[in-house]
Amino acid sequence: MKPSEAREKINNLKQQLKKANDAYYQEASPLMSDHEFDRLLDELRLLEETYDLQTPDSPTQRIGGQPTKEFPTVIHPVPMLSLSNTYSRNELDDFDRRVKNLLGHENYSYIAELKYDGMAIRLRYEHGKLILGATRGDGTQGDDITPNIRTIRDIPMEIKFDPLEKKDSLKEKEAYKTSPPSDRYPDELEVRGEAYMELSAFAKMNSDREEQGEATFANPRNATAGTLKLQDPAIVARRPIRMFAYDLLIDDNNKNRTQVEKLNLLEKMGFRACEYREWCAGINDVHNVIEKWAALRKDLPYETDGVVIKINEERYREILGETAKAPRWAIAYKFEAEQAISRIHEITLQVGRLGTITPVAELDPVSLAGSTIRRATLHNEDEILRKDIRKGDQVVIEKAGEIIPQVVNVVLQEKKKRGAPFKMPENCPACHAKLVRLPEEAAWRCTNNQCPPQVRSRLEHFASRDAMDIDGLGEAVINQLVAEGLVTKFPDLYHLTPEKLVPLERMAEKSADNLIQAIEKSKEKPFEKVLYALGIRFVGVTVARDLARAFTSLESLTKASEEELCRVDSIGPRIAGSVRSFFKNPENQKMIEELAALGLQFRSESQHQVSNKLAGKSFVLTGSMPSMKRSEAKSLIEIHGGKITSSVSKYTDFVVAGEEAGSKLDNARKLRVTVLDEAAFLKMIN
Ligand code: IVH
Repeated sequence: MKPSEAREKINNLKQQLKKANDAYYQEASPLMSDHEFDRLLDELRLLEETYDLQTPDSPTQRIGGQPTKEFPTVIHPVPMLSLSNTYSRNELDDFDRRVKNLLGHENYSYIAELKYDGMAIRLRYEHGKLILGATRGDGTQGDDITPNIRTIRDIPMEIKFDPLEKKDSLKEKEAYKTSPPSDRYPDELEVRGEAYMELSAFAKMNSDREEQGEATFANPRNATAGTLKLQDPAIVARRPIRMFAYDLLIDDNNKNRTQVEKLNLLEKMGFRACEYREWCAGINDVHNVIEKWAALRKDLPYETDGVVIKINEERYREILGETAKAPRWAIAYKFEAEQAISRIHEITLQVGRLGTITPVAELDPVSLAGSTIRRATLHNEDEILRKDIRKGDQVVIEKAGEIIPQVVNVVLQEKKKRGAPFKMPENCPACHAKLVRLPEEAAWRCTNNQCPPQVRSRLEHFASRDAMDIDGLGEAVINQLVAEGLVTKFPDLYHLTPEKLVPLERMAEKSADNLIQAIEKSKEKPFEKVLYALGIRFVGVTVARDLARAFTSLESLTKASEEELCRVDSIGPRIAGSVRSFFKNPENQKMIEELAALGLQFRSESQHQVSNKLAGKSFVLTGSMPSMKRSEAKSLIEIHGGKITSSVSKYTDFVVAGEEAGSKLDNARKLRVTVLDEAAFLKMIN
């Protein structure tokens, strides 16, 4: 390559990487897979080194993104470094040789930890209390996201144990109970770890979002990053974020500590330390662990992208030191991403419940991570155009969070003639109504309310488990009911008769009766379920519940102004607008009148939600309290957003104990759950 060509290639790579980096950090959504990013970065590094063209602004010289604007910035006194990566097992041996040479002996050991694929966070505790939670940002400064961090249940607000003292004897344990733990911590300590989302929770969250016509997240990592950068902690509290701790920073000059000990301490303090970790006597052990975990990883409930190998002994870490970007005492071995190549034989369009049109790649069947993939989502028009995906293309597909495979990029074959660029049709593929795209939205929409796929999925939603829960009213029956013209809107369901049902396929008299009974029984469903079943855009289970609690009846809900709606905790202008426009629509008004006349519940018995002070917190009640009944305490907790469970577990945040508290209190002590008396409990909410 001529130097001028190298220069051009370098500029090109820099631009691509910068864009990808911004998308990842600032917009919390990815443009390329990690593997692709690392490949480009390696290519750039090689070119820069070969042609001696490094510049300070190159992505090879930086760690991460800039912090985003909306949060206060915090400086990291101990920088949050990144790790050197390798996909090659041979390079692990090189790493080990380097360590041996630098130390001049072989008396070190390793610890292998799973590399959790989420977002790094830093927690600061003073006198045992959490006072700061921050993102990594560019490694030297990040965002102060403390209110969001406080909603994560795996993160203790207060450390449960004095990490500097052993309390093995009974006497010591007694001393621990009587003297307040806050006096016994090192004044300051930090915990670092990975915030992440479990695959099943991620999949559920995404399908809820899809149903509500909201943009879905590409993978659990983006969902985590996107969530932790939200401005409203109440929303964060509802998202299933978890955390594994992987580092403890205590400034006590104990140079003999090991990583194995630190992780054990973290557990005693109430954190979830990396659950896959293994001590390794040497690099051969490390190779064995990698082999074992590579096989295990597809069965894990979360995503992992590799194994982190760290020197176990703190004193050797100090000797090895670090470069500007990464420590010399650790390295990440990355697993190959689970990708496969297939061909798109067709791009089809799917019509959602609210008319959203989602383009889907129909693929030649290919096996990927244990299942056969035939379809992959293409998200929306912009996404297709940005990646320039066309019918007939060979594409790389990747599993994003287990369930939905997605198209990563096109594999361009130089000699092959390609199909025409993708073009969104002007009309709905199902009903031929004109499609519209609102300026602030990524999706095209079919606005014909009577569009058959929309009618079908509205009915499916109405009958679903979290809504009216009508047994026997599944996809197959609904398809027939709609095709036969027996049902077009919800009230029609309540006018079905055995005579109308029996002629349907696979519908005997008995099943017809059962179905009619199940439909009849749904009239007992409480207001919040009915409200959810109506399928108002942006109104999911939680919003429906909050609305039903705050307004208690349909009349007051339909009368509420957008401003009044916004006073409810989980509701912002977008949801309020959608609720208003649903109830303003004369057709909807007529339908609701019919449903009310049929006897559905449009009034709720539950109380107002008063605050979110206890959001995300789980309580157990035990014993009798001096001034209130258990039911009163229960409703106090609920109206402040807390949750009641019947037994104490490690997920319990507080046990409120009165007189004659029994085994629950013992359990609470065993699990070191905070115990409150009535006064302390009341103080929490007042
Ligand atoms: S140690 C200086 N341990 O990987 C070393 N990192 O590429 C700091 N990560 O920013 C990191 N699991 O977000 C470490 N068991 C683990 C990890 C882990 C995931 C992430 C972390 C870090 C990134 C580095």
